[in-house]
Amino acid sequence: MAEKLSVLVLNQIAPAGLARLPPERYRVGKDLTDPDAILLRSADLHGAVIPASVRAVARAGAGVNNIPVAALSARGVPVFNAPGANANAVKELVLAGMLMAARHLPAALRFTATLDTAAPDLERAVEDGKKAFAGFELAGKTLGIVGLGKVGALVADAAIKLGMNVVGYDPEITVEAAWGLPSQVQRAASVAEVLRRSMFVSLHVPLLEATRHLVGAANLGLLPPGAVLLNFSREGVVDHEAALEALTAGHLGQYVCDFPGVTLHGHPKVIALPHLGASTQEAEENCAVMVAEQLRAYLEHGEIRNAVNFPAVQMARESAHRVAIANSNVPNMLGQISTAMAQAGLNIHTMVNKSRGEMAYTLVDVDSPVTEPALAALRAIPGVLAVRSLPLAG
Ligand code: MLT
Repeated sequence: MAEKLSVLVLNQIAPAGLARLPPERYRVGKDLTDPDAILLRSADLHGAVIPASVRAVARAGAGVNNIPVAALSARGVPVFNAPGANANAVKELVLAGMLMAARHLPAALRFTATLDTAAPDLERAVEDGKKAFAGFELAGKTLGIVGLGKVGALVADAAIKLGMNVVGYDPEITVEAAWGLPSQVQRAASVAEVLRRSMFVSLHVPLLEATRHLVGAANLGLLPPGAVLLNFSREGVVDHEAALEALTAGHLGQYVCDFPGVTLHGHPKVIALPHLGASTQEAEENCAVMVAEQLRAYLEHGEIRNAVNFPAVQMARESAHRVAIANSNVPNMLGQISTAMAQAGLNIHTMVNKSRGEMAYTLVDVDSPVTEPALAALRAIPGVLAVRSLPLAG
């Protein structure tokens, strides 16, 4: 019987996902030392000590800015996420955000809460009060979307169905994502163009150095007066100080976001939700199931699906003996790996090697058990970052 694998869980993960790691094969918990993998949502791993035993980190969500991806890559550790698994939940909240802003719903609800519903003049109080909340309709307005990945594309589709015009910008758009976009989406050439043309702007980009303060003092003034900015991606994508200035100056109409913070707290033109974008039962289950399955395929078979720092690699088992090697993407790695294997007496049955950026990954099925000296010889090759023997569990 193979030794159990251990998965340290740092946040609440949907039980449907944890059930994909069966107890006969896995120890799963929040107090494990030296785990094989870490499963998390928003726990911040920057600055945390990640034990040397960890071979994979999996985030039950899309963003990975709470994970030190570069440091883990240098250790040959893949970071998995769940792209698209919560996209519908985020889309629905973006629609709610647009409607909340357009119809002044949070302020209207606050007003309703102040009403004395037993008062004889309730009807008059309602009719008088509602004048302050007259809004505008979404149909016919232009929504600009920055980032046309899974969430951006769903938001575009829904907005078009609501009768909005949609302008989109994404310099990184994949061919597949471009094919999936509704044909009515008008293509913009820059963030600036999106801002200039749109009464609503919704941001759907990851937080990277290149996207930090993507919307800020330099470009908020391009928005039409009274425009609504929606940020359901990451707080740092918008410069909140600059947003505060634009709101106070009356240029930015409203800011709707999923990130409460000290700068904008309590501002009457800000609608801030407590990071609810992915918080639906369906999304939490989808994300947890997706990453748990990816983790399992990696820990047991070395296969990689949806890692943000490694290529996708899958290979059907053709032998009970498999070696997984994470290495730098430099010349002659394959030659050195196969030489070391031959010298260790291992006959290669099947092999897959793929690279992505600076990282490469090799799966090799061999005809006989992989010995410790063979693993040591592979680990000694300069550029090899991590080596695992993955015998088929009996
Ligand atoms: C995401 O990145 O998809 C969300 O932050 C997930 C979450 O709410 O945990």
